[in-house]
Amino acid sequence: MQAARPMDAQIPAPASAPRAYALTRLSLSNYRSYVGIALECDARPVVLAGENGAGKTNVLEAISWLSPGRGLRGVPFVEACREEPGAAPAAWAVAATLLGPDGAFEAGTGISANSEGETPRRLVRINHAPASGPSALTEIFSVLWLTPAMDRLFIEGASGRRKFLDRIAMGFEPGHAQACAAYERATRERLRLLRDGRGDPRWLDGLEAEMARHGAAMIRNRLHAVMRLMSAMEEETSGFPAAIIALAGEAETLFAADPASACEAIAARLARSRRLDEAAGRTLFGPHRADLDVRHARRNREAASCSTGEQKALLISLILAAARAQSGRAVPVLLLDEVAAHLDETRRMALFDAITALGAQAWMTGTDMTMFEPMDSRAQKFRVGNGAIIPH
Ligand SMILES: Nc1ncnc2c1ncn2[C@@H]1O[C@H](COP(=O)(O)OP(=O)(O)O)[C@@H](O)[C@H]1O
Ligand SMILES: [Mg+2]
Repeated sequence: MQAARPMDAQIPAPASAPRAYALTRLSLSNYRSYVGIALECDARPVVLAGENGAGKTNVLEAISWLSPGRGLRGVPFVEACREEPGAAPAAWAVAATLLGPDGAFEAGTGISANSEGETPRRLVRINHAPASGPSALTEIFSVLWLTPAMDRLFIEGASGRRKFLDRIAMGFEPGHAQACAAYERATRERLRLLRDGRGDPRWLDGLEAEMARHGAAMIRNRLHAVMRLMSAMEEETSGFPAAIIALAGEAETLFAADPASACEAIAARLARSRRLDEAAGRTLFGPHRADLDVRHARRNREAASCSTGEQKALLISLILAAARAQSGRAVPVLLLDEVAAHLDETRRMALFDAITALGAQAWMTGTDMTMFEPMDSRAQKFRVGNGAIIPH
């Protein structure tokens, strides 16, 4: 099957290409708490208000599947199927009209219908044609999110911070998702050979060369993202603290020492650690072990030892810097789950103003609609509840 490419857009780009990505239509079917809903909006920010459990986060999560990975809740895609007592879970689907610098696209994703004995797959369609996979979405759409679960991002393990940086890196370099996936595949395959104890050295050489090639691309993309983030980080004027960030890790140090020969150096290092990896049962060296160091610039303190409020403010600061840094192409859609509720009034105003200044379509959720009153006509507001979404 032919993969859809952005060039196949059926809808021509408007005379002045938008500076920000936006959804103008969203429809969900059999998606978690939703049987089926359709929502139309314009490129302005969107407010979703409703009680706890109303289905607000489900909507944001649905949008997050329009990018590679495991969505905003970080779960396998099969979990998004609507469950009903006494019924088999039905196949979920999310469809949207996406606006961006290359025009409008009809995009859709969901789970393949379950036929006997077949492992379900995540399908992606762009302009009604099957795409090669979720990575293809990075060519036409960019989305970043902030959720309450990320409040512990600086405290928990490095994996969350890597994912956070990778999502930002995808916005700068659409090929980053593919590089990560290819690296992961080669790493898994090499480890399987080592574990099985039938590692033909030439076969291992080949896989390590793959790992080194994609791994070096990953490091380059991540370093580029860190650099762009740092230069987009504003002085502390907006109520959100400036952060100082750096990419840390053994492979990263090796790369920085001599980027031109990093590929060979990484492959050689992997070849040397075959025995160690076999004994450990995991791959001890590589960009999958990197970490993102974040410091609060004014306090000169690492993020992990800042107060909970300061950590939240740092995260918002990073998301806003990423959106600003990507504005050269187009500002990403921002999914800000329960963000406003945790800010005092001054900071809430600062966030609303920053979103307005960016021209970002930010999707914001909260239990209290009045919290978003200052957005006034700058946002479109919806009430969420009882499996429906109604304009406010
Ligand atoms: N797979 C599923 N099938 C059916 N309902 C689900 C599924 N997953 C979550 N839900 C329901 O969705 C609701 C939570 O929605 P959520 O979007 O998290 O609410 P909130 O408005 O608080 O963000 C809960 O009532 C939960 O039971
Ligand atoms: Mg929620």
